[in-house]
Amino acid sequence: MNSEGVTYSNPYRPGAGHMPPYLAGRTSETREFGRLLKQDTILENLVLTGLRGVGKTVLLDTFKPIAIQAGWHWVGTDLSEAMSLTELTIAIRLLTDLSVVTSSITIGIDEVKRIGFGDRKIEVPRNLDYRTLSLIYEETPGLAADKIKAVLELVWSQLRLRETKGLIFAYDEAQNLSDHAAKDEFPLSLLLDVFQSIQKKGIPFMLVLTGLPTLFPRLVEARTFAERMFRVVFLDRLDKQDSREAIVRPLEETRPSIDFADDSVTMIIDSSGGYPYFIQFICREMYDVFMQEPDEGETPSVPMDGILRKLDSDFFAGRWARATDRQRQLLEVVAGLPSCDREFTVQEIVTLSKTKIERPFGGSHVNQMLSTLSEAGLVYKNRHGKYSFAVPLLGEFIRRQAQKGA
Ligand SMILES: Nc1ncnc2c1ncn2[C@@H]1O[C@H](COP(=O)(O)OP(=O)(O)O)[C@@H](O)[C@H]1O
Ligand SMILES: [Mg+2]
Repeated sequence: MNSEGVTYSNPYRPGAGHMPPYLAGRTSETREFGRLLKQDTILENLVLTGLRGVGKTVLLDTFKPIAIQAGWHWVGTDLSEAMSLTELTIAIRLLTDLSVVTSSITIGIDEVKRIGFGDRKIEVPRNLDYRTLSLIYEETPGLAADKIKAVLELVWSQLRLRETKGLIFAYDEAQNLSDHAAKDEFPLSLLLDVFQSIQKKGIPFMLVLTGLPTLFPRLVEARTFAERMFRVVFLDRLDKQDSREAIVRPLEETRPSIDFADDSVTMIIDSSGGYPYFIQFICREMYDVFMQEPDEGETPSVPMDGILRKLDSDFFAGRWARATDRQRQLLEVVAGLPSCDREFTVQEIVTLSKTKIERPFGGSHVNQMLSTLSEAGLVYKNRHGKYSFAVPLLGEFIRRQAQKGA
């Protein structure tokens, strides 16, 4: 509170999934989503992908009302905890999500007969709640895929009577979906098979998957047809103009309004690299500094060094701490490559390591370490076999660390 009794509340929202005070840019991505909503027969589903903190979750949140406005139903969840998904749990997941939309729908005797349960466990009429859906699932003969399809088809036969454009299944953090051949569990393939099959039958149920850049390669690895089944939208850092908006627009809303000087704004754009999470983080710190400034009219100096140090400890340090010494050494070599913030190859690392460190890395060793590092979520392999950092601005962080150590 200041002397006039006004409570300042910091408008910026650094935090996973926190809606920013002003969602900058993303117009072409939103338009693309709008285009997919116009499909009567689903030929394309959506993959929304990008690095951590780039704004996938909040953009997905803004898609929901757009879809509903356009006459779609929307169900879905966050799959962060989905590491151990089996075919049964993905089935339960789908039925659970579906039942949110369908539980108020009552089906009569005719439908029940038509599905073939007339003389069995289903008394009529009854609601398409979770219990009914799972009963239909259990009673349908065949594999998990057949069972899920039977449920989805029944649900659509009811939904279509109710002026629905279709139904969207939105799954966040979907890079966690994977098949486990060793355990003979193929939940990801199951999901893809089911949607491909019902979409072929003209049922307008669309998948919207968001996740890290490993997501799409993983889908294609499970089922090659996934290549054609998804429109991939890659969310990138904001350009300079959009970054500026993300920084200054929230200030217009605050009372009394304050202003960041032009060169401060430029400095935030540069230090954040246009990455939305970093913009929110730096701006929140800056705002607090401005609010604490004792003398009016004085322009506070920007403590960018301190802010970056805080960012290092809040955002990067945990990930860095999990790497071994030798892995860090490898990452330091990578951070020395001019192209490290875009992509890099095994060969480039091998070559630079010869001039840079005492015990250089060999090709197969680099390959092996990059694959361990990608499991740890620090790098990922793109579709052309090149690698990139899986954490934005990791190169600069590593260089800052090296300077500190030097
Ligand atoms: N377009 C945007 N403009 C401004 N801030 C954004 C934008 N997109 C995301 N953010 C902010 O960035 C942070 C990360 O967003 P989030 O959706 O959690 O990223 P992701 O899901 O890709 O990891 C949040 O603090 C959010 O408020
Ligand atoms: Mg997210």
